[in-house]
Amino acid sequence: MTDNPKIKRLRELKAQSRLGGGETRIEAQHKKGRLTARERLDLLLDKGSFRELDPFVAHRTNDFGLGDKKFLADSVVTGWGTIEARLVYVFSQDFTVFGGSLGEVHAEKIVKLMEMALKNGAPVIGLNDSGGARIQEGVVSLGGYADIFLRNTLASGVIPQISAIMGPCAGGAVYSPALTDFIFMVRNSSYMFVTGPDVVKTVTHEEVSFEDLGGASVHSEKSGVCHVAADSEADTLYLIRKLLGYLPQNNMEDPPFVDTGDDPLRREDELDTIIPDDPGKPYDIKDVIRLIMDNGQFFEIHENYAMNIVVGFARLGGHSVGIVANQPAVLAGVLDIDASEKAGRFIRFCDAFNIPIITFEDVPGFLPGTVQEHGGIIRSGAKLLYAYCETTVPKLTVITRKAYGGAYDVMSSKHIRGDINLAWPTAEIAVMGPDGAVNIIFRHELAEAKDPVKRKAELVAEYREKFANPYVAAGRGYIDDVIEPRETRPRLINALEMLSNKRDSNPAKKHGNIPL
Ligand code: HXC
Repeated sequence: MTDNPKIKRLRELKAQSRLGGGETRIEAQHKKGRLTARERLDLLLDKGSFRELDPFVAHRTNDFGLGDKKFLADSVVTGWGTIEARLVYVFSQDFTVFGGSLGEVHAEKIVKLMEMALKNGAPVIGLNDSGGARIQEGVVSLGGYADIFLRNTLASGVIPQISAIMGPCAGGAVYSPALTDFIFMVRNSSYMFVTGPDVVKTVTHEEVSFEDLGGASVHSEKSGVCHVAADSEADTLYLIRKLLGYLPQNNMEDPPFVDTGDDPLRREDELDTIIPDDPGKPYDIKDVIRLIMDNGQFFEIHENYAMNIVVGFARLGGHSVGIVANQPAVLAGVLDIDASEKAGRFIRFCDAFNIPIITFEDVPGFLPGTVQEHGGIIRSGAKLLYAYCETTVPKLTVITRKAYGGAYDVMSSKHIRGDINLAWPTAEIAVMGPDGAVNIIFRHELAEAKDPVKRKAELVAEYREKFANPYVAAGRGYIDDVIEPRETRPRLINALEMLSNKRDSNPAKKHGNIPL
């Protein structure tokens, strides 16, 4: 308690600001199963660490009766705090004020925050829950969005930017999250689309629900817009905290080292038998990843999208690493349009933020067919190739089984600056698989053979003996060593530490021209 009237007034104003759109709207938000902007920040940040910016800012519009409807802090809460004692900047849109819609001052608050984050080199986390451009403010709102888009772009590759979609995110508003590094969504409670169900119906006559048009499932499985989908708001915020543990504060820092307690010399006998004898038989590359990484932990990105490639973060000997792995258990681990784009973007994130990349390779090639060719697999595959080529962070590769054709070159081969490339004795490194190769090079002989089936089996065995092994590549130095699978963890940790002072660069240029 205080008797000082000025302090009393300050406290009243702060309390009013904290109440956002008021009790009734807070209740309405809770009834929808959603938390308020401030409750979300409480869950996201270390307890008591939040410091708010601009709690007294209110809009300046008088049109459409807005003059007598002012809310302190307007429709977004901004400030900074810590996650595991590391600084982060945050904004959290407040749906209880004008549906979280973005007008002039809402945009100004986010821009101020982003400029501070950029100057001070710490991540920005945006919690989105908004009806989009504030309709009453017209073009001023559109200008505000563009001001944010510009900051998102300028901050890209300098500080990590993470977006969580906690409710609606519609219209051009989607493009701010889309410009950030990672998008998290809450299942059955959030949605993103450029045009909503009503407009879709008018233009294309399709009837579609909010969830089916732009819910978390759609974006985490079909479009790839969402990187991580979680079951609840609390889970979403918890996963953002976990992700940040793998990332540096900015592009000038290395990611944090954490002593995980897992023995760097740990050998895993199970890896020696994990590759099936039959080369056509699948296995789960995530089992390989978990056996090798510290304490079996793997933070997967895009878990349910383009599942024929697996990407995510883990620790090796306490060092944060990005993992890219073909997944033989899905489509035999083939590379297609979605897999190439998924991995290409992930690789560029790791490179921008000094996170070494470990590639596990078991790839039969690129997916054939008109759908892929007409869809632009040439352009998409080139994105993945470009991403690997331009990367200057340490790159370690382990070929577990197939490394065929163009995919051999693309998947962090020695030729495109792979630092240490290892193969297991089960590796098959060749232009194509034995079956296809024999069909082509012995077409005439097979056509004239008395017993084509028997002859083909002989030729396939001969080809397999000659080429379907790692020793031809190792004999040329394209593979640095062939190792026993059980040795993979200690060998990778040793290589990572050997490369810890690696410095490599690309020619000076304004920027390259990745085949977008
Ligand atoms: C002003 C808005 C608003 C907006 C919602 N509100 N969206 N006010 N501008 N864009 C207000 C509502 O009038 C309402 O105020 C309160 O917020 C809560 O909204 P409800 O409709 O009651 O909530 P709900 O039923 O949950 O529906 C949420 C919603 C709906 C689906 C988001 O509000 C909606 O469709 N809003 C409009 C979405 C839209 O078309 N936005 C423009 C998109 S174009 P009261 O006082 O009545 O409670 C765009 C362009 C951006 O954003 C371009 C950037 C380049």
